[in-house]
Amino acid sequence: MSITESALPTTARSADTIVPIVAELDARWSPRSFDPEATVTDAQLDALLEAARWAPSANNFQPRRFIVARRGTHHFDTIVHALVGFNAAWAVNASALVVGIAETSTVEGDLRSYAEYDLGAAVAHLVVQAQAEGLHTHQMAGVEWDQIVAAFDLAENLKPMTITAVGVVDTADKLAEALAERETAPRTRLPLSELVIARS
Ligand SMILES: Cc1cc2nc3c(=O)[nH]c(=O)nc-3n(C[C@H](O)[C@H](O)[C@H](O)COP(=O)(O)O)c2cc1C
Repeated sequence: MSITESALPTTARSADTIVPIVAELDARWSPRSFDPEATVTDAQLDALLEAARWAPSANNFQPRRFIVARRGTHHFDTIVHALVGFNAAWAVNASALVVGIAETSTVEGDLRSYAEYDLGAAVAHLVVQAQAEGLHTHQMAGVEWDQIVAAFDLAENLKPMTITAVGVVDTADKLAEALAERETAPRTRLPLSELVIARS
C-alpha cells in the first residue's frame, strides 16, 4: 500500500504537509482528552516497547530505559502524582504512562554521550507504533523529576526525561474550557525553509 492509500483516515488534527508522509506520522498529534474507560492490552504495550527497542542507537549501546504503568495500578498513581498540576489534570485519563529514562553513563562510569538522543529516537518509534495500534500519545516534560527518582529509586546514571501518555483519544468537549481550546487550536510548525540550513 502506498502512503497515499493509507488506511488511517485524515482528521482535522492531521498534519498539514507539502507532500504525503507516512500515514502514522500524518495522523499523529498530542491530545489531552483521553477516554478514561479505555485500556491498552499487553500485546499493544509489547508492540510499543518493541518499536522503541528497535530504534537506532549510537554504538548500539541502547542507553534507554522505561517504566510502564497502566491506569489502575499503584505505579500509575505514583507517576500522576509527580506530574505538574496542568499535566496531571488530563494525563490521569490515559490508559498508560511511560517514563522515558536516559542512562547517561554505565555503572562503571563510562559516559553515554548520546543517551538523550537515543531515548528520543526510541520514544519517536514508540509514538509511531502507538498510532499504528489505534492509540494516541502525548509526551510531557512538566514533571517533578525528583519525585520520580525517589519513587522508583533511580540510580544517579538514570535520568528520567519524559513521560508519555498513551491512550484512546476522546472528544475535546470532555475537557475543561482552557484545555478544550488548546485541543482544537490549529497545529502549526516552522516552515522547512527555517529548519533546513543547507540543501543541495
Ligand atoms: C519533550 C517534550 C515535552 C513536552 N512536554 C509537554 C508537557 O509537559 N505538557 C503538555 O501538555 N505537552 C507537552 N508536550 C507536547 C507538545 O506541546 C506538543 O508535542 C507540541 O505542541 C506539538 O503538538 P503535536 O504533538 O500535537 O504536533 C511535550 C512534547 C515534547 C516532545
